[in-house]
Amino acid sequence: MTRILNASGCLDALAAPEVADGLDVFVTKTVTPLPRTGNDPIRIAESDVGMLNSIGLANPGIERFVAEYLPELAERIPSLWVSVGGFSAEDFALCCAALDGYACVDAIELNVSCPNVTAPADEASAIVAAARGVTSKPLYAKLSPALPDIASVAQAAEQAGARGLSLTNTLRGLILDPATLEPILATATGGLSGPALRPVALAAVYACAQATSLPIVGMGGVETGEHALALIAAGASDVALGTVLFGDPAAPHRIRTELEEAAQRRGVASAAGVFRMALGDELSASEVSSKPGIRGDLLPELTKVAVGS
Ligand SMILES: Cc1cc2nc3c(=O)[nH]c(=O)nc-3n(C[C@H](O)[C@H](O)[C@H](O)COP(=O)(O)O)c2cc1C
Repeated sequence: MTRILNASGCLDALAAPEVADGLDVFVTKTVTPLPRTGNDPIRIAESDVGMLNSIGLANPGIERFVAEYLPELAERIPSLWVSVGGFSAEDFALCCAALDGYACVDAIELNVSCPNVTAPADEASAIVAAARGVTSKPLYAKLSPALPDIASVAQAAEQAGARGLSLTNTLRGLILDPATLEPILATATGGLSGPALRPVALAAVYACAQATSLPIVGMGGVETGEHALALIAAGASDVALGTVLFGDPAAPHRIRTELEEAAQRRGVASAAGVFRMALGDELSASEVSSKPGIRGDLLPELTKVAVGS
């Protein structure tokens, strides 16, 4: 089954439990070893192609997170991933070690890619290896689309013990106030998310799916089931929703329905079947939609794109 997650930092499950209920997995905002107040306001700006944010990893710090937030999340969320971040491999290891004993944490996402803080000094593989050393939880490495060769970083993360990839984080962007021509954000630049990220995320998923055998959570500008299906055809096994949740709290349910319909329009019974095709697998008779595909002629095209033949 294709799982629908939220993208880290784009949903507060305790403040909006009805939105979290529509997800298969809830991912927390990134937690760091020490509390962070984040960047000064203004921290959000909108443009016609997406949203710019410079939240700067505002969070209560791992100690308070574990003591105050985790128990409540554990009670309300059936499947929980915690996103962790920091400025060195030791920071990541410290957060992972603090989470290791909590059965309610199903996986840890390593945010090695936030554009709003100074980049972690260590390479992604060193971070994954340090985290791997202190926890047996599945580790998902969240990579930046700005990496010049994202596929080799994904391979390094796989070798260091990552169990999956989250692709992708935001891209650095700048939005100017049209009246003053000055940056809207206090930090000037911020992380660009939403529609502008869509083809970038697709390329990142495609490159990493070819280069590794890791499951991939695809994200970046997903607003419809068609967008989600494109990520799956490029090699993502699951899809996360970010910016869309700010404007449409009903998006998880809507996109899930649209996603299955989008697969069926291609003559495939479910989105999971499209993922299997992306891996180059033959579909069994039961995986082929019983309804004739409206655009069934696209099926061979879809496979061709996905397996890169
Ligand atoms: C307001 C905001 C806060 C975010 N905070 C985090 C964060 O704490 N950790 C993280 O890994 N990504 C964070 N992200 C990035 C998202 O998880 C996601 O990778 C990105 O927004 C692309 O998906 P989208 O285009 O669907 O929003 C944030 C994005 C936004 C818009």
